[in-house]
Amino acid sequence: MVEELDRKVQAGGYKTIVFVICSVAALGGLLFGLDQGFIANSLETLTKHYQFTVHDKESYSAILATGGILGALLSGVFARFLGRKKSLLLAGFIFTAASAYSALLPAIGVLSALRFALGFGVGMASFVVPLYLSETAPAAIRGSMGTLFQLMITIGIFLISLTNVYIARTFVSPTTALPLMFLTITLFAALMFGGGFILPESPRWLMLKGRKEKAIEVLRRTLNTQEEIDTEIGEIEEALHGPQGAGFGIVFQGYFLKVLVVGVLLQMFQQLVGINVMIYYAPTIFGYAGMKGIVAMMTVPTVNMLFTFPAIFLVEKWGRKKLLYVGAVSMFVTMVAAGLAFQSIGTVTDAAAIGSAPKMVLLFAVIFYIFGFAVSWGPVVWLVCSEIFPLEGREVGMTITTMVNWTFAGLVMANALTFMETFGNASIFFLFSGFCVVAIAFVALFVPETRGITLEEMEFNLKNGVSLRHLGKRG
Ligand code: BGC
Repeated sequence: MVEELDRKVQAGGYKTIVFVICSVAALGGLLFGLDQGFIANSLETLTKHYQFTVHDKESYSAILATGGILGALLSGVFARFLGRKKSLLLAGFIFTAASAYSALLPAIGVLSALRFALGFGVGMASFVVPLYLSETAPAAIRGSMGTLFQLMITIGIFLISLTNVYIARTFVSPTTALPLMFLTITLFAALMFGGGFILPESPRWLMLKGRKEKAIEVLRRTLNTQEEIDTEIGEIEEALHGPQGAGFGIVFQGYFLKVLVVGVLLQMFQQLVGINVMIYYAPTIFGYAGMKGIVAMMTVPTVNMLFTFPAIFLVEKWGRKKLLYVGAVSMFVTMVAAGLAFQSIGTVTDAAAIGSAPKMVLLFAVIFYIFGFAVSWGPVVWLVCSEIFPLEGREVGMTITTMVNWTFAGLVMANALTFMETFGNASIFFLFSGFCVVAIAFVALFVPETRGITLEEMEFNLKNGVSLRHLGKRG
């Protein structure tokens, strides 16, 4: 029996199932990006059809984040009680249904409710997908998954920006263009939903529920030899005898609270440096400086995607903190430059009257700003948040930090355009540059370097009173 299964596994089962697991997980990241990147190049078409005011633009953009907060909160519960696979299927179903229904162009109230639902799916996916992967994928690909997930987000943002530009230019009528834009998301969402059915359940969750036979069956599909299966089962059993997932009460434990504050502030600053103002409103902002066309629409998503690739290697080579410094300094300088460019433009609104110097400064500022984020704060913050929490509080820690990310994303998106209207276009860039300075000080004083140390060693340090900054130092 075992020999027969071994033969089956060696006959290629390993590769197929691992490929399916990675692809479905990748789709989760991609959908995050598709929804996040949707606004930038559809806002004009949406405005034409729904007669959006500035306030409508902000609320329709930001409601995704509100859904994200709730999705992140409940996904911990779903993942524990329904299982990882069913939670993924649920996220896939929500993505598919909400984007398909949006393509029917319902009244604005319903359309906003659907974007809230999409946000709920994104919030769930941003928690369940990395969890499922870390529990199911073979050890060899576990480590790179954190950065890979971010890479898929940026590819999603790029893809939807490109298809939305193409659709908006090809089909002038919003009643044709908008459904096609929503159907692009539906297509990938349906792939994730359909693909989810072939996924195996996470062996760790099965063991948690006392279904050892089923867990072994799954491992036979993903691992190559009986020996590997036995080792893995042994490790899971050992882990199950250790401390188990704690409830929210763990936030009152001093050692946990310390790292929670680091995670919360990292996620808060990731949003307060202004990234989503660029991701969502770059075409609008370039428009204020009299720049339109493909450069205004595609610069941000392209640079964002390209510079996430080097992060995958640099995060191990340079370490997390060095990257955070490089990113924050680069974002500080470029935000000041963008602010000065807008200051020199002043209140001029006639595109022809705006000189080429401020336009060039703005363009280069945006390019180096996005480079700074993509190579550092984008992937590193998610990565560090998945590393710093002790095992028993990892689910709670990641749920809270993910919710903080969406809360600040929503706050920024919901107020950015009004802020610019009220205080002048330059003001918001100076504000973001100020947050970059505070973020640099915070990294220097409180963030540990988590490269090259096992999670268990770090947990040991944490529980033995080592200061935050030195948590990553080997004893
Ligand atoms: C952030 C998102 C942002 C994306 C851009 C992620 O790390 O959490 O808010 O839209 O990066 O690439």
